[in-house]
Amino acid sequence: MVSDTQQATETRPQIHVQNAIKSFNGRVVVDVDDLVLGDQPIEGLIGPNGAGKTTLMRMIMHSTALDSGTITLSNANGGGDVVISDLPTYWMAPHGLVKSNQVIMDFDNLTILDSMLLAVATAKYEKPHRIFDERDLYDDNIEAMQEYMDFFELGDPIRFAGSAGEKKLLDIIRCLLLEPKFLLLDEPTAGLPEDVTEKVVEVVRKLADKGTSVVIVEHDLNVIWNLCDEVHFMAEGSVVLRGSPEEIRQNSTVVEKYLGEGHV
Ligand SMILES: Nc1ncnc2c1ncn2[C@@H]1O[C@H](COP(=O)(O)OP(=O)(O)OP(=O)(O)O)[C@@H](O)[C@H]1O
Ligand SMILES: [Mg+2]
Repeated sequence: MVSDTQQATETRPQIHVQNAIKSFNGRVVVDVDDLVLGDQPIEGLIGPNGAGKTTLMRMIMHSTALDSGTITLSNANGGGDVVISDLPTYWMAPHGLVKSNQVIMDFDNLTILDSMLLAVATAKYEKPHRIFDERDLYDDNIEAMQEYMDFFELGDPIRFAGSAGEKKLLDIIRCLLLEPKFLLLDEPTAGLPEDVTEKVVEVVRKLADKGTSVVIVEHDLNVIWNLCDEVHFMAEGSVVLRGSPEEIRQNSTVVEKYLGEGHV
């Protein structure tokens, strides 16, 4: 008998990065020959500051244009292979590929509720004489929004996000509300208190169990070692190693270039 988890794994979407190069001001910052993401439910992407992790994620979303190379998405929304490096960024989220932001991106003057609603607003809610039909938008999404508001104990949603951590969390919730099939998280727990970090870890695990592929960039290595089934190590623009968390944390190159002596 095939379990739900097994079934979810078989249809798990993958991203294939081939010969992808990006330079800024004549300096190559990403040069990835052949990388498959999504073999395992939750994969980590780690490496020193400036290794190119965020740039690689942005190249996948096509919010940074590639100099050359190809990025393909397989199995998202039951479809075949799609060359996403040919497609605009706005194509990604409606087709299941979603990314959170390393740097906090939020509106100063939107309430928590409005900010969440904005993530789920699509053309279907547009009406001839107004931009959105707010009532439908609210009714269709309040259950999911309430679930996350309760889970993360956000309290009154008719207020502005009070702290950097809350804004960061809101960015993650907006990603979750989009029901991603492939989720890229760029330092999701940076600046979050420990109890909220634990909740983010829990929610990511649940998502992966249901068949979403997750790739997570994080400098908090406890999160990586606890959460990831596999880890990619990136240095100077290239993914130089791939292995289990145990293999990666013991590898001499990783220790030398990133972890330093005496790491745990
Ligand atoms: N828009 C840009 N213009 C010029 N240089 C850039 C730009 N974006 C990134 N870089 C450079 O590319 C390199 C890779 O940066 P990137 O942000 O991808 O690294 P990272 O691995 O995410 O680092 P961190 O762990 O600090 O977030 C860095 O040297 C950075 O300064
Ligand atoms: Mg980064």
